[in-house]
Amino acid sequence: MTKPTANATPALAVDHTPAGLDNVVAAETVLSHVDGMAGRLILRGYDLDRLADWSFEAVLALLWRDLLPEALDESAIRVKLGAARQRAFSLLTPLLPSTDGLSSVEALRLLLSTLADAEPDAHHILAVAAVPVFAAAIARRRRGEAAVTPDARLGLADDFLRMLHGAEVDAGKVRALDTYLVTVADHGLNASTFTARVIASTKAGLFSSVIGGLCALKGPLHGGAPGPVLDMLDAIGDQSRIRPWLVDALGRGERLMGFGHRIYRVRDPRADVLKHAVAALRDGGGRIRFAEAVEVEALALLAEKKPLRPLQTNVEFYTALLLEAVGFPRDSFTNVFAAGRMAGWTAHVLEQEKTGRLIRPQSRYIGPQPDDAPVAAE
Ligand code: ACO
Repeated sequence: MTKPTANATPALAVDHTPAGLDNVVAAETVLSHVDGMAGRLILRGYDLDRLADWSFEAVLALLWRDLLPEALDESAIRVKLGAARQRAFSLLTPLLPSTDGLSSVEALRLLLSTLADAEPDAHHILAVAAVPVFAAAIARRRRGEAAVTPDARLGLADDFLRMLHGAEVDAGKVRALDTYLVTVADHGLNASTFTARVIASTKAGLFSSVIGGLCALKGPLHGGAPGPVLDMLDAIGDQSRIRPWLVDALGRGERLMGFGHRIYRVRDPRADVLKHAVAALRDGGGRIRFAEAVEVEALALLAEKKPLRPLQTNVEFYTALLLEAVGFPRDSFTNVFAAGRMAGWTAHVLEQEKTGRLIRPQSRYIGPQPDDAPVAAE
């Protein structure tokens, strides 16, 4: 057999690989665009500011438009999601005990993985409906409380909070959660969406694809940051300790959670949408003023320490405050993020299945050639 030689390797399109695929365009999409220099997020032609007071169901209708076998408007989606929440709940009882001992996001991963890719129909509806049902039940089980049955008549944000708290929730909090879910619904080719698209490109199926997305979301460099943002605010404690605490953390080489972004070189537009949503809550006030003071000091120190790299507030900073204010325990924050981002993941999977090709890039081999490798002991 002929030995492969370096010359047999087809030429690669680029002569270096940007670390983290920085600036590489890896898909075409009609779904969303992140303009990192202008601080703009566009979803199918709408600036985020215009969508902020839409319902999550209306944004789902926007993202899924032309990608589904049947056209669904906001109210049809609301009805279907209600029925699908009940279906997801009917699967829960035997599964919940097996989540004990796992983190909340691992518990969600386990529950979602019980859903079959060969589900007979409307996987995308079930995927979006299942997350709030599972996430609320996981949070309650951690407090020793039984899961609460969904109310199919309610909107998803309303029912999510009702299933979490076991009681009707103030309309202001429902509005704030709806704004949050809309704000994080889609965001270009972020790490979790890219993961979901790669899996979808192999025709593995919807649940396999979105579970891959959830696994990528779990890390603190992506969707796992808001819990640690609150840990940071707690550790700082009071106004007098803000600067010394941040100086120490940066001196130890730590990253400040809720700051920095791969794409944005200016402020993440989602941060302000969420800040306004928290500020509108009756009891959002105290914590938000302290958080603002931390933000101002952190931005000044980051500009001092990293003058060549603009580091601004990202979505996770005010996410932490909003999700705390509407009553989610901090270990469930990533699951709530997944509830919103499931809109984007399902839309990208539908788009990839409809228009895409197997995603199979190359790696650049930088190991030894067979002739250079040490001779193994016979
Ligand atoms: N605090 C302190 N320094 C930072 C921070 C931060 N939050 N973010 C980046 N830096 C520094 C890095 O240490 C690095 O410095 P160096 O060049 O001296 O080594 C420089 O800025 C560039 O950092 P990169 O890692 O190249 O930036 P990248 O684009 O890969 O990272 C990321 C983006 C992961 C979001 C980063 O800013 C970070 O870790 N932030 C904190 C975690 C966080 O908030 N995650 C949520 C992100 S939003 C989302 O995904 C939904």
